[in-house]
Amino acid sequence: MKTPLKLCAVFLAISLLQISFAQSSQPKSAVPSQIPGRDAILLGTDWYPEQWPESRWEEDLRLMEAAHIKVVRIAEFAWSAMEPSEGHYDFDWLDRAISLAAKHHIDSVVGTPTAAPPAWLTQKHPETLRIEENGKRAVHGNRAHGSVSSPVYREYCRKIAEAMAVRFGHYPNVVGWQIDNEYGYALMSFDDYTRKQFQDWLQAKYKNLDQLNREWTTTYWSQTYDRWDQIPIPIGGNNPGLMLEWKRFVSDTWNDYQKNQITVIRQHAEPRQFITGNFMGFFDGFDHYVISEPLTFAAWDDYVGSGHLDPNYNGLAHDLTRGFKRRNFWVIETQPGNVNWAGVNNTLNKGEVRAMAWQAIAHGSDEVGYWQWRSALNGQEEYHGTLLGADGTPVPLYEEISQMGKEFSLVQDAFRGTTINSDVALLNSYDSHWAIDFQKHNQKYDYVGVLKSYYTALRKLTDSVDVVSPDAPLDHYKLVVAPDLNVLPKDLADHLLDYVRNGGFLVLGPRSGMKDEFNGLLPQRQPGYLVDALAGRVEQYYALEKDFPVSGVWGNGEVSVWAEQLKAVAPNTEVLMKYGPSNGWLDDQPAAISRAYGKGRITYIGAVLDDKVMASAGVWMMRNSGAATASITVPEGVEVSRRSGDGRQVLLLINFTRANQHVALPHSMKLLLANKQADGVDLPPYGVEVLVAAK
Ligand code: GLA
Repeated sequence: MKTPLKLCAVFLAISLLQISFAQSSQPKSAVPSQIPGRDAILLGTDWYPEQWPESRWEEDLRLMEAAHIKVVRIAEFAWSAMEPSEGHYDFDWLDRAISLAAKHHIDSVVGTPTAAPPAWLTQKHPETLRIEENGKRAVHGNRAHGSVSSPVYREYCRKIAEAMAVRFGHYPNVVGWQIDNEYGYALMSFDDYTRKQFQDWLQAKYKNLDQLNREWTTTYWSQTYDRWDQIPIPIGGNNPGLMLEWKRFVSDTWNDYQKNQITVIRQHAEPRQFITGNFMGFFDGFDHYVISEPLTFAAWDDYVGSGHLDPNYNGLAHDLTRGFKRRNFWVIETQPGNVNWAGVNNTLNKGEVRAMAWQAIAHGSDEVGYWQWRSALNGQEEYHGTLLGADGTPVPLYEEISQMGKEFSLVQDAFRGTTINSDVALLNSYDSHWAIDFQKHNQKYDYVGVLKSYYTALRKLTDSVDVVSPDAPLDHYKLVVAPDLNVLPKDLADHLLDYVRNGGFLVLGPRSGMKDEFNGLLPQRQPGYLVDALAGRVEQYYALEKDFPVSGVWGNGEVSVWAEQLKAVAPNTEVLMKYGPSNGWLDDQPAAISRAYGKGRITYIGAVLDDKVMASAGVWMMRNSGAATASITVPEGVEVSRRSGDGRQVLLLINFTRANQHVALPHSMKLLLANKQADGVDLPPYGVEVLVAAK
């Protein structure tokens, strides 16, 4: 049943009233992830009222309010409840849930439910179910089973998103939208229609087959195409050019899929309502810079899985997410103690969940949301961590989360208008990540692991590190490090050279500058278009079966997994490190070289360095680039971070260890959590402190 016209008129009238309320009272925030009129940093949870009798909602919300929860994400899997049969929308229950939440001072982020199509839809249109790589059609009853490229599926997605936006686009307590859920893990449908779309996409890009054949060197193994419809979807190993283009096509397809929903939401929702999507850290199913483009800000789902928080890996993933839009973000889902999908679903230690949440804030998140509030009594995720037990009363972790919620509220003024400003950037490239993973050459080569080794060394020495796309503006950075920038076409190389010419300090890691934009080998030695500026090059690369010694200005240590024999070709190219006795080829050969170029400097490191050597390489990079060092010297296992803005500087100290730690401050500061003035901080295990300059 369609919504009667009369009702629409009433909604429109209410909506117009709400627009005027919202627009007159809500100034625009300088930080899009902070909601005007609300706390600057928020505690949230994922709430599924559709899974419970309505009589229960009030108690849920009372317990949330008591825990200082300020925002719920809602409805992202509720398609069958919102559209029980085709075109028959029932939003009244959601309206009541949102209104009841508002009564408890809780805002809602509404998710579009397109990751879980209802049974009536998949039954009527089985063609909207994905075809898996093995040729079999996905079955109903899981999620992410809709086909992202099906026009029929997209039309249903558009219609439900539009109906939701018409209904909730003006609600004062709906602060934003989430599109889909984790973008269906970037899963594609391997059907003829998708294949045709891919072929059309290639045709639009390459214009003629001669160019495509040339760029992909299709004479190799008789791959030459004389018709566009001969080009396959790559499954398994295929031409590297074809494989890279497929990933780009996947990125564009998911972007079109979300834009189909974003467009209708934007048509009906007030501009103050943000639109975001929930990413998954280093998941590389698509290019996150592409998918983030139409979003207000990025969000991600931060799960540890088995084991315990690795602050370097987690910090890096936060900084990656912040870099998608180069602005603050949300951790829209995180782990309330344990997950249900890892090898061992151990619970984080007492205090660890709180430390993890504060790390998100320290790295530029403005919300931390717990998935989920309470487990449905049935369904695939019965064992996942929650804040309430099956009986509807708090589990032990609820106390820790309430404490944090209270702290967020108490200190939120300090964070208003603050973001992260870094002197140091790491470059992350999906093209390079994919290109390396397609042809690892050494199975132990880990793109993210190499990024993390540079990050770990540098993050210890400074208050923040940005992780950005190589084509981001770079001029304001003192130090730019590209740990494994494998795909480096001419325009990107020119961008880096401009940075160096203008005084930038550029460091390249192994495998850099090897490939062109078609994932073909550049007809130069590495680092390709940067060879002249470096006046140095890679003579040969070697996958290592064991570690070899290395020594030089960064001390003595070992290289592993990958080593390149470098050559300095000009007298002013300095050799910083050399290999020791190894495979004969590398013995006594340069492992790291550096040269002044323009007003700046370019350095090339040809191997994966051990932690000790990497640490002193980090010190060398910081010292020689003039990047600002950490505001406070901290013991091992304690992280210092800084957020600034609106004339404010906020420092955060987090102790990730299970031991007491003392941090001496450079001068007396105000400790906001301890609520005192001091020139030192005692941090208990997993302890946190927020500091501002004393007034
Ligand atoms: C993902 C999903 C959630 C939930 C959690 C469980 O992040 O978005 O719906 O399944 O995992 O960890």
